[in-house]
Amino acid sequence: MGGSALLTVVLAGAILWISAIHAGDEDDGKLLCTCENIKGTCMNGTCRGDICFYSWWQDKEERGCFSEYVFKEQCLTKIPHLFIHCCRENHCNALTTPPPNINGDSTTMPPEFPRPELWITVSLLLFIVTAAACGLALFLRFQRGRCRLKNAEDHDVTMLKVPNGDDPTYGDIFDEFCTSGSGTGLPYLVQRTMARQISLVECVGKGRYGEVWRGTWMGESVAVKIFSSRDEQSWFRETEIYNTVQLRHDNILGFIASDMTSKNSSTQLWLVTHFHELGSLYDFLQYSSLEPESCLKMCLSVACGLVHLHTEIVSSQEKPAIAHRDLKSRNILVKRNGQCCIADLGLAVIHSQSHDYLDVGNNPRVGTKRYMAPEVLDETIRMDVFESYKQTDIWALGLVFWEITRRTNVNGIVEEYRPPFFDLVPSDPSFEEMKKVVCVDQQRPSLHNRLHSHPILSAIVKIMKECWYQSPPARLTALRVRKTLSKLDQESDFSSEKLKQDV
Ligand code: ADE
Repeated sequence: MGGSALLTVVLAGAILWISAIHAGDEDDGKLLCTCENIKGTCMNGTCRGDICFYSWWQDKEERGCFSEYVFKEQCLTKIPHLFIHCCRENHCNALTTPPPNINGDSTTMPPEFPRPELWITVSLLLFIVTAAACGLALFLRFQRGRCRLKNAEDHDVTMLKVPNGDDPTYGDIFDEFCTSGSGTGLPYLVQRTMARQISLVECVGKGRYGEVWRGTWMGESVAVKIFSSRDEQSWFRETEIYNTVQLRHDNILGFIASDMTSKNSSTQLWLVTHFHELGSLYDFLQYSSLEPESCLKMCLSVACGLVHLHTEIVSSQEKPAIAHRDLKSRNILVKRNGQCCIADLGLAVIHSQSHDYLDVGNNPRVGTKRYMAPEVLDETIRMDVFESYKQTDIWALGLVFWEITRRTNVNGIVEEYRPPFFDLVPSDPSFEEMKKVVCVDQQRPSLHNRLHSHPILSAIVKIMKECWYQSPPARLTALRVRKTLSKLDQESDFSSEKLKQDV
């Protein structure tokens, strides 16, 4: 009797010990990590994740959890001035501090401690049972805890950089990251820290989507899009795409950071991008007219951006194909060099032929009715086929070209700015009103006679018409549009050079 009581006590002690070691492992195999200065995912100073982290950047410390899928970006990235420590034991981030001598190269060492598997647990149990001593077990546990901490200090913690006194510009941070990281975006910690150092200066746009502000970060202007709470899916989608796809391109709006904060119990969603003082193409066309050569360069730049989005790249700089699904002049920004860049990837669909997937997302938002292609309006679009989405972008591209060409001066004539179908539907048209015009009556935007008399504009007119075929597969591809415009641009550069020489 005495023997079985002893055995029961021993077993209970062992079970308690093991469950203490594995606290937090029960159902989902997640770790418990210490949380500090992190909002959202923490409860009582603790979060659950696959990896615990400690970060230090510009005197700011954070502790929290990462999921496994961000391990590479978050833990293996070298960023100037950032110290990051990732580890894989319960609360292994609790006691980490930045090393006293912050200098040397940045390296983030992935701790590869395997977590105890079931067989280890079982052998420990057997070991304890045979040892038959609760006290010994508790003593061993104490020892093991100390060893783990020592290991963490010896192996997990790795130094990054020394602040050399100068504040980094975001260009510096990108340069460092783009040459050493995955090339998609900054690690989330850096994004969040940067976003929280932005001062909002002036509101430059407001709509159903939320607001756009000009802000400053370390003296540089940045654009901050603050999403309305009903459009949070667009923030998630755009954040996901910018963080997972290599999208650095002159004609795609440059991404800086995404941030989610909680303010008076409501969630604030920010997307921080490059700031373009000329604003959207829609704004620009209200007060500016163009010469045919600048019209061509502008159209070509939009086509270049769209080709980059639509093209899957299978080399080391891998990139899936992306269809925009809400291309319009309000979602295009004008740069100081006269080129444009495409913004708003909140509705985009992603496709990879090589990895065999089509990801249409789960955004309840739909595209802008005025720019919807006939097959969207009559609901015959094949939503399971990626090509369909590219073809709807081409329809909208033709409409954007039409808006630009109206504002282009030929023989001293330019038209007022008007949105597509301005003469056929009211403002904020309904789906049915658009469908009647585009599908039933098969109307197309009218083209002013002056456009036919200019070699550049008549070529753009031809492209527009070929973007507006009722049958989606008959439309041009973005690549074909880009090639045609590119050729036209070279010819026009050549003839203007020749003209200069002849004079
Ligand atoms: N409006 C919307 N996005 C903008 C940006 N990135 N820069 C300037 N104005 C904008």
